[in-house]
Amino acid sequence: MSLHRLRQITVGVPDVAGTTSFYEAFGLSPAAGGAFRTRDGGEQLRLVTAPWRRLDAISIAVDDADDLHRISRSLTADAIAHTINDAELNVHEVYTRISVSLVVETREEIAAPPPVPAVNSPGSVGRRNVPAESVLGASPIQPSQLSHVVVGSPNWAASMHFFTDLIGFETSDALDGIIAFTRCSEVHHNLAIQASPAPFLHHFAFEVDTADDVLRGGSNMVDADDSRHVWGIGRHAIGSNWFWYLRDPAGNFVEYTADIDRITAQDLYVPKAWAGKEFLYAYGPPIPDAFLEPPDAHAIFAAASKG
Ligand SMILES: [Fe+2]
Repeated sequence: MSLHRLRQITVGVPDVAGTTSFYEAFGLSPAAGGAFRTRDGGEQLRLVTAPWRRLDAISIAVDDADDLHRISRSLTADAIAHTINDAELNVHEVYTRISVSLVVETREEIAAPPPVPAVNSPGSVGRRNVPAESVLGASPIQPSQLSHVVVGSPNWAASMHFFTDLIGFETSDALDGIIAFTRCSEVHHNLAIQASPAPFLHHFAFEVDTADDVLRGGSNMVDADDSRHVWGIGRHAIGSNWFWYLRDPAGNFVEYTADIDRITAQDLYVPKAWAGKEFLYAYGPPIPDAFLEPPDAHAIFAAASKG
């Protein structure tokens, strides 16, 4: 795959200043121009002013200019307007209303992943004579990288065609016509597209090092303000990722996630025929209605349908 990283998302919110402190508490580091840095991925979230919360833009890394020109030829064959030079290609997807930017960037491994904390299990004791690291006042949670974003499209098939056939995302798992989990890296899903009455931002996620960090991060956020809690801690079946979903002041759902599946080539991965609640999760607390139908969804559908 010529795509290799989800670089950044731009999220529109009505009140950028009022949303900023949430993401600082979440563990991201503020930078200039409404941007926030993850520990290992640079500036990966940008907040901009918008009349309602929404995903405005997504930026994806490609290997070289040849990749951009190949994508350009696909877009041209479908008569889709775009701009291109040897460093960057910019295009707008009309149904999700996302501005898509493809940027030439060198592949880099995450520099020095922190050591996995020692764990005790009956057959393998990794820690003796000391409590677990995470209960000893461990350092604040710092998400490693942006993991994924989930959006709604009023024309699911057309948006899927755009992102997979033209841009080059690969589909890891899909429930046809309902939702597809697609990736632009080894991460099981970087972009999930679900059918929806209007363009809609469902949630976005940042990857932390361990399930323990998902629990500790979610717990810290909810201890400070229990209205932030949405759903967690649990583990998804599709993608295997641990999750704890929180609500930011604009109403966006944002997820701490850990241990998400990696896929190196689609023909090495056998999607399962997901059934029943596996579609949503493997285990954890029951799913709240507000996760399936966010309370502001209808107002956003109405606003987005008008403009
Ligand atoms: Fe998620």
